[in-house]
Amino acid sequence: MEIITSIREMQRWSEARRRERKIIAFVPTMGFLHEGHLSLVREGKRRGDVVVVSIFVNPIQFNQPSDFATYPRNVEQDRRMLEAIATDVLFLPEAAEMYPPGFQTTVEVETVSRPLCGAFRPGHFRGVATVVTKLFNIVKPHLALFGEKDFQQCVVIRRMVQDLNFDLEIITMPTVREPDGLAMSSRNARLSPAERQSSLCLSRALRKAQEVVRQGERRSAVILQVVRDEIAKEPQVRIEYATLANPETLEDVAEVAGPTLLALAAWVGEVRLIDNCILQ
Ligand code: PAJ
Repeated sequence: MEIITSIREMQRWSEARRRERKIIAFVPTMGFLHEGHLSLVREGKRRGDVVVVSIFVNPIQFNQPSDFATYPRNVEQDRRMLEAIATDVLFLPEAAEMYPPGFQTTVEVETVSRPLCGAFRPGHFRGVATVVTKLFNIVKPHLALFGEKDFQQCVVIRRMVQDLNFDLEIITMPTVREPDGLAMSSRNARLSPAERQSSLCLSRALRKAQEVVRQGERRSAVILQVVRDEIAKEPQVRIEYATLANPETLEDVAEVAGPTLLALAAWVGEVRLIDNCILQ
């Protein structure tokens, strides 16, 4: 596996692969990799000829400095995991090269960035859309893979790619979970053993909601109460939002009629976790 840290060098590498008519698959990440990230890399390898993974803890998408400071990092471990699954390039830029003095251009995807996480993390999706635009211009991929664990991020990126005519394909992949149901996340590493146990109420709440919908319930208010009641059983967990929304527009829905996104965010101690599922 080649490790590239310079933006110019990454662009030259991708141009050379494009001249060889190779399909470049790209998986952007913030590192501290787990099986969720690796599922994207494997799919990238399956669909492309070469796969590039970036690790960059993007300062401009963190709305809380403490979250940026405590975000787990272990590049050496990440490097070994990527090498083991035959990643072609690990792109590891420095913040100083990504955001040199004078940097002032950002990308804002308007409506779909506003609800859900956008309502609680001002500037977050602007930071994501901006860094992903930069990474697309640096890595020049034919396809880029994202996880549905960050469902709103997928919607924002798809909108951006369409609106700004990026010449690439976005592929989204299902959420990878721990055997007990917890959605894999780099931030899970920050949970104490007791918090790790409490955090199971999130995936349990999603399953309960799926169950009541299967039994015929359609009213959002009733379904969301089931979710809130389940999470309230864990005193260490504080719900930030639980919403039923149209999975394309992310607008709230009053009833489940067709595929509906159930998205939630909650604080487990000092750690903010998100999870979601599609109710049919
Ligand atoms: P990060 O949280 O590191 O996630 C990188 C990619 O892995 C994202 O597409 C995310 O949705 C996916 N992912 C994370 N956990 C997953 C899981 N349990 N199952 C499946 N996929 C999962 O998302 C970001 O980084 C950043 O916002 C980024 C897009 C890199 C821009 O900075």
